[in-house]
Amino acid sequence: MPITPLRQQPSWKALEQHHREIGGIHLRQLFADDPLRGERLCAQAAGLYLDYSKNRVTDETMRLLCGLARERGLEERRNSMFRGECVNVSEARPALHVALRMPRGSTLVVDGADVVAQVHSVLDRMASFARGIRSGTWTGHTGKPIRNIVNIGIGGSDLGPVMAYEALRAYTRRDLTFRFVSNVDATDFVEATRDLGPEETLFIVASKTFGTLETLTNARSARDWVVDALGSEKAVARHFVAVSTHARRVAEFGIDPANMFEFWDWVGGRYSMDSAIGLSTMIAIGPERFHEMLAGFHAMDEHFRTAPLEENLPVLMGLLVVWYSGFFGVQSVGVMPYDRYLKRFPAYLQQLTMESNGKHATLEGSVVDYDTGPVYWGEPGTNGQHSFYQLIHQGTRLIPVDLIGFGKGLNPLGEHHDILSSNIFAQAQALAFGRTEEEVRAEGTPPDAVPHRVMEGNRPTNVLLGEILTPRLLGTLVALYEHSVFTQGTVWDIDSFDQWGVELGKVLAVRITPELTSQAEPELTHDSSTNALIRRYRALKRQ
Ligand code: F6P
Repeated sequence: MPITPLRQQPSWKALEQHHREIGGIHLRQLFADDPLRGERLCAQAAGLYLDYSKNRVTDETMRLLCGLARERGLEERRNSMFRGECVNVSEARPALHVALRMPRGSTLVVDGADVVAQVHSVLDRMASFARGIRSGTWTGHTGKPIRNIVNIGIGGSDLGPVMAYEALRAYTRRDLTFRFVSNVDATDFVEATRDLGPEETLFIVASKTFGTLETLTNARSARDWVVDALGSEKAVARHFVAVSTHARRVAEFGIDPANMFEFWDWVGGRYSMDSAIGLSTMIAIGPERFHEMLAGFHAMDEHFRTAPLEENLPVLMGLLVVWYSGFFGVQSVGVMPYDRYLKRFPAYLQQLTMESNGKHATLEGSVVDYDTGPVYWGEPGTNGQHSFYQLIHQGTRLIPVDLIGFGKGLNPLGEHHDILSSNIFAQAQALAFGRTEEEVRAEGTPPDAVPHRVMEGNRPTNVLLGEILTPRLLGTLVALYEHSVFTQGTVWDIDSFDQWGVELGKVLAVRITPELTSQAEPELTHDSSTNALIRRYRALKRQ
């Protein structure tokens, strides 16, 4: 049903007025007016604590934002997603990643089939395969146990697995080697395999569509690498498994469908790390811990599904992004994990957030007249502090930042963890409160240096804290961002589950490839810039 355009929504208009009234108030003032603010403006769920007090909001802001979410039908749309209805409108399908982590025994019937039963049947097959690899009973073509696992995939078929492997490294089997090949640049494949023995290497070809050029090109090179070394096409059966929704293409590639782990078109690529796409994760950490990760996802799903909007972590975080994007002109959001194991988490979030909410058309097909998804970016703390934080502190752009930390580190060593964590609190404090001109002068600063040392403050942060990074908490954290993205997309009335924008480039590349490889130099019919670049490339290639 068409909904009122966002900017005509009464709650949006109320927020515009409210922003005129409070948008300029400094966090110093907000904290001075309310000594308990830091204890009040927080929420917790499923082992995660969110302090959102250092945001440029009042109680009234949060009331209006929650009202906006209600007016935009967030609760109905959320329930519709959980029921398996067609929320991915432009692709006419459900977005049911929440079913991937529903506990065994629960049911969710979609189109006459119990999807939870299907999910657990694949999880069981994955577990038995993972145990086979981990125990050495699944052997390669020459009878040697598998010691190396190489995941070949790109986008959602790579970023989730590699992020989870890095995040959960402390829980992985250290005697197994894991590599991830995504880029069609041959360097990726060559560097990932150069020190591996083909007899002991398993390739997981992960592709929802099994039609992605980069993945199939890498998979073909992998097959040649194995067959050339082991001298027989038969080796493919012991050294390749597939994860896909597309059994026919898997079979055409030469992988026995018996060695394929299935998922479904209702799982979006960037929402798939907890499906069979997570096979490498399961081999790395074992089936039991993989199930703990699923339980963490599910705990956040349940919180999102049932908690009032005012206490709902993903809703609060999503609405804060809407607030800054809609009323402060914010263009980007930083995510800084203060845990080295989460080093790939910002990259993972970039696909989740930007492929989901980088949209310009509403569900009804009109072009939006407001900003949608911001740019997400980040780096692990504290490294970012010694590089780009300067711009966040004193630059001219407003960049809200999520700072993620843990009470305990996985590698206790002297004072490291306390030093690391003190930086989370110090950064949030410095960003919020800055240093006034009076404070700078009072320190005896020479007058001409004063402007350089003043820090305006009033820069917003969320601080997310958990006890320790476990498989369970990783699942919870990912689900938190998934539902925050959904909340934003619902307010903006866009389809957070399609990605039509990436298609055109793929089509054009397929057209250009033969023009680069042909000996006959075919006539070029592109624009003058593309033609000139192709000619230059051919000339460079010949030199
Ligand atoms: O090009 C974008 C995309 O379709 C992503 O959405 C997806 O995660 C990625 O490509 C890989 O797709 P596939 O798993 O089908 O190979």
